[in-house]
Amino acid sequence: MNLFEQQAREFWERHIGPNKQETEEMLQTIGLASLDELINKTVPQDIRIEKTLDVAGPISEDQYLNELRKTASKNKVFKNYIGQGYYDTITPSVILRNLFENPGWYTQYTPYQAEISQGRLESLLNFQTMVSDLTALPIANASLLDEGSAAAEAMCMLFNYKNKAENITAPKFFVDKNIFAQTKDVLLTRATPIKVEVVTGDFSTAELDETYFGVIVQYPNSDGAIEDYRPFFEKAHAVNAKVVVATDLLALTLLIPPGELGADVAIGSSQRFGVPMGFGGPHAAFFATKDEFKRVIPGRIIGVSIDAQGNRALRMALQTREQHIRREKATSNICTAQALLANMAAMYVVYHGSIGLKKIANRISLLAHALSKELLEMGFEQVNNYYFDTVKVKVNDVATIRKLAEAKRINFHYFEDGFVGIAIDETTAQCDLLDILHVFAESMGMSDAAVMFQYDTKSDNIPAELTRTSTFLLHPVFNTHHSESEMMRYLKSLENKDLSLDHSMIPLGSCTMKLNSATELIPVSWPEFSKMHPFAPAYQWQGYHDIVVELEKWLSNITGFAATSLQPNSGAQGEYAGLLAIKEYHADRNEADRNIILIPISAHGTNPASAVMAGFKVIVTKCDEAGNIDVEDLRKNAEKYKRHLAGLMVTYPSTHGVFEESIIEICNIIHENGGMVYMDGANMNAQVGLTAPGFIGADVCHLNLHKTFAIPHGGGGPGMGPICVNEKLAPFLPGHVNINKGNKTNAVSSAPYGSASILLVSYAYIKLLGAEGLRRATQYAILNANYMKARLEVYYKILYTGKNNTCAHEFIVDLRPFKSLGIEAEDVAKRLMDYGFHAPTLSFPVAGTIMIEPTESEPKAELDRYCDALINIHEEIMAIENGSADRTDNVLKNAPHSLQVITADVWSHPYTRSQAAFPLAYVRQNKFWPAISRVNNTYGDRNLICTCEPIEAYEEIGV
Ligand SMILES: Cc1ncc(COP(=O)(O)O)c(C=O)c1O
Repeated sequence: MNLFEQQAREFWERHIGPNKQETEEMLQTIGLASLDELINKTVPQDIRIEKTLDVAGPISEDQYLNELRKTASKNKVFKNYIGQGYYDTITPSVILRNLFENPGWYTQYTPYQAEISQGRLESLLNFQTMVSDLTALPIANASLLDEGSAAAEAMCMLFNYKNKAENITAPKFFVDKNIFAQTKDVLLTRATPIKVEVVTGDFSTAELDETYFGVIVQYPNSDGAIEDYRPFFEKAHAVNAKVVVATDLLALTLLIPPGELGADVAIGSSQRFGVPMGFGGPHAAFFATKDEFKRVIPGRIIGVSIDAQGNRALRMALQTREQHIRREKATSNICTAQALLANMAAMYVVYHGSIGLKKIANRISLLAHALSKELLEMGFEQVNNYYFDTVKVKVNDVATIRKLAEAKRINFHYFEDGFVGIAIDETTAQCDLLDILHVFAESMGMSDAAVMFQYDTKSDNIPAELTRTSTFLLHPVFNTHHSESEMMRYLKSLENKDLSLDHSMIPLGSCTMKLNSATELIPVSWPEFSKMHPFAPAYQWQGYHDIVVELEKWLSNITGFAATSLQPNSGAQGEYAGLLAIKEYHADRNEADRNIILIPISAHGTNPASAVMAGFKVIVTKCDEAGNIDVEDLRKNAEKYKRHLAGLMVTYPSTHGVFEESIIEICNIIHENGGMVYMDGANMNAQVGLTAPGFIGADVCHLNLHKTFAIPHGGGGPGMGPICVNEKLAPFLPGHVNINKGNKTNAVSSAPYGSASILLVSYAYIKLLGAEGLRRATQYAILNANYMKARLEVYYKILYTGKNNTCAHEFIVDLRPFKSLGIEAEDVAKRLMDYGFHAPTLSFPVAGTIMIEPTESEPKAELDRYCDALINIHEEIMAIENGSADRTDNVLKNAPHSLQVITADVWSHPYTRSQAAFPLAYVRQNKFWPAISRVNNTYGDRNLICTCEPIEAYEEIGV
């Protein structure tokens, strides 16, 4: 290979951890001669693909960025006044640099391990407080996927809540006609399978009765109009229907908030709080509600508790608060959400404070008012008398306006019936109004336009009776960090509390925390990608188009399928979209009564939760003692439910980390009984280039791009869960209201390509590695796991391996044998923090175990440090067994040891401070201090507080 060919492959060596010599050493430890031998022993022969993947690359990082510049230049970023839920915004540079583009924030995992996640937990608590304050509703979650799915979550929550108590028949949900079109679209998708009738109408004339369990309106609405909904809300409450308000947080700085109007739920997107439009995302949706619903809210809620020392400590409330843990009883499947973007929005509010936000909102309102006045003077008729940022006018000739506007690189929103919408945003300058007005003037044959700004007089575009008088964001955190120095330090102080991939490996089984390379991520901030509105005309996003087309083709090829939809915003959303495709397929063949989905007991909770959301009945099937699907039990159930079998959901390799030998037989059984096979792609990191779901016999799979394809986890999102399908299911992929106008769309997200801007990460990942690099990455993921297994099995029992005693890309360490010594899996997880490590996946899929997935990106030295830590922990456990350590007062039970504990004047433990804090030599060189001692979950759940407490509370608990 010449020097230039070597250069093209240089990213392999940057992405894959072990080098040649280390590979040999590792194979020696495993007891095998070559990587090929390991793969042959691990991946069943009958599912191996020999063909090379048909993807681009490999190319060097520099070449990639140069090529991408050319693709980026095909995107034409116009000045956007389209609005409809997406607005240009100014990301404060201090947040862009220190949060959005900072691996200390974006490589974090979901904060399940609270002691090493206090930074992002605090930021997410700020997010909840901000949402709660602005909406005037007492409880908010820490983000959902987008505005459309948040509206659907609200509808489903209210339906399930009422249905549980009353078992309602013929349930109806009223949707005001002036809700954003994409939100209505997603609501329709979600309502159909659960047999909720969506009734669209005009709220001012709607007739409601007891069959309605809920209503939704947009405030301000899709016309930009501010309506007084109070009489309507009273009408809804009079028939016992609950009220959802889709709203805009910036507008709420000036408008009476939904909670004060009587709403039960408020939802929306926090995008315009400093998060770029990114052609549709990622953005954090919010969800706020009344206390009554606190136990049924979808998504994650951060709550305040105390640690073992009684200090204030944050953690995910109510044992993680995730609905999907309840499997088929769950009312939502949300797992990955939009934590990174929620943090950005929260920091934007921390930086601006209530006064700053109001200034931004008032500037926007003033500009909209000036624009309205001039347009009225020109003779245009405005439809919305009251408005915040959007002016909607009637024009005689939309085509001319559009032509003139686009010639000036301006986009408006064009309603279908001859109206034009102009949404002002934070980036709009005074001079921009002149450009807008010139377009309208020219359309009337005039060459001049002028604009007057009334800075002092109060604008009359917001009605007095809907003007906000209540205060908000009074908490010190929103009133302190307003200078750049303070903001930078606040961001850093939170970042320092959190363990991220830039500190050490995070080997979370089923989560694939691999390298998220800088080259993959840098273009996400390029304006050609970040400033694109998702509803801009197609000719303006040719660059995105090229990327979408190529990526769809590559993902189809990698999975062995015919078509791909990039719309779902998370793995669970992909499950839902894939199951809907199966449902539509059966219905299309006049077999709508195929309504049963088989799911093995070992499946992730989102599988049954998604199946129920898609309107299926779930039958759980058994696993055998080796952790494999019990094929006979599966066959028995498939045959028993033959007439109604819709399909099977199966994870491969299994959630037990094994390539089950019987997978082809399993697929055949389902097909023979008329069902379709859904493959959960969470474990694709063990498949890429070696085998493929389509080749194995599945009909559809989702991919977690935030696992296998290098999108960072962002502390609990963003994610992307595209689905790949065979020819049979291709006609039933999700569409979008902007694409399939007037037709049924099955949309699962607000934007046609989901969180489009982060598709760039996966696009780069594939192109940098190329076919051979991708295959090698998979081989090394399997090598790294088997190497760690080989080192650890001397000390720990490993649950489940394949027939040749190898594991796939992850393996489960059984900690249950130590229970008799009083040691739980949780103690080991917490003790790992003292060694500077994040715990592996805890108690999934088997309680009392940890599941380790090192990924291909970790070098041997890091794998060795992690193994050394676990081996030393084993020694610490043995010390309890042989009596040299106390059963209750030991390094495991008291873990993690915070700096405060270690440096306290009093030390009463039978072990030393250095045993506690520096158990191995390497720890001294790079000590990571957990910010708190072990968090007390029960205390927090008993005293549920999910917003920043008043400042006195800090004093009471001694922080
Ligand atoms: C096996 C499996 N399936 C589905 C999911 C859900 O994916 P997401 O969190 O992207 O919704 C996960 C998440 O960890 C998983 O491990």
